[in-house]
Amino acid sequence: MQQAQQWIAEASRIAALTGAGISAESGVPTFRGASGMWKRFRPEDLATPGAFSRDPKLVWEWYCWRRGIIAGSAPNAGHFALAGIEKRAAAFTLITQNVDGLHDRAGSRNILKVHGDIWDVRCLSCGREERDERVEFPELPPRCGCGGMLRPAVVWFGEGLPQDVWNAAEDAVRSCEVMLVVGTSAVVYPAAGLVPLAKSAGAKVIEINVDETQFSSLVDFSLRGPSGELLPRLLQPAAGS
Ligand code: OAD
Repeated sequence: MQQAQQWIAEASRIAALTGAGISAESGVPTFRGASGMWKRFRPEDLATPGAFSRDPKLVWEWYCWRRGIIAGSAPNAGHFALAGIEKRAAAFTLITQNVDGLHDRAGSRNILKVHGDIWDVRCLSCGREERDERVEFPELPPRCGCGGMLRPAVVWFGEGLPQDVWNAAEDAVRSCEVMLVVGTSAVVYPAAGLVPLAKSAGAKVIEINVDETQFSSLVDFSLRGPSGELLPRLLQPAAGS
């Protein structure tokens, strides 16, 4: 832990990649693992463009259920620790696969949401994208002012990532001295590829996860435990700073 704290204190450019695990202690279910959502639901029924064109109401019901859980949750100490380091570090980029918006609510500002945001919707007819924080809608699927069908503005399996966001994520990872990989199973690409990219670009990579991942042996330091406990310790301000 001390070694990792020193790398962070000495780094001027830090990047972090977060996944569903950072929000687990806020009560937001993860996707994989014993109690993960993909144990109960099939991604191909709920998180693909094909699923949405087959049954938009079903997909929206699942998103409304998730919106309800997220609306009733609050950022935890892990989210707050990352918001804190952003204020202190010379350059800090937060890359998240999460769509829950808990990083925003914790006060992080420089956030690259590579899988979109559950609170944004996009019209399939006019293409307009806007924020819509309702948990219940008068009809499902909801409609845009133009009459077109709205979809969640998130990235589904089989879809490309927003190019500008992805380019910025790769740039941040290529140029950082320390990269934190927090609460992600790191099995979904291209996001997972940021971990070996950081390593090959010369960054010290620190993983924080309750379990081992495919990258645990590749990283420089693997902290095993809940991010809500470990991140505040790892990122605590040095005395006098
Ligand atoms: P996963 O559900 O695949 O992985 C969550 C990870 O968090 C696992 O490695 C857990 O061990 C770890 N974890 C659980 N609780 C934790 C805690 N309290 N502290 C630290 N770690 C903890 O979630 P992601 O890796 O984010 O994509 O999944 C990646 C993508 O797959 C998601 O963005 C989503 C999903 O299908 C799409 O929907 C496109």
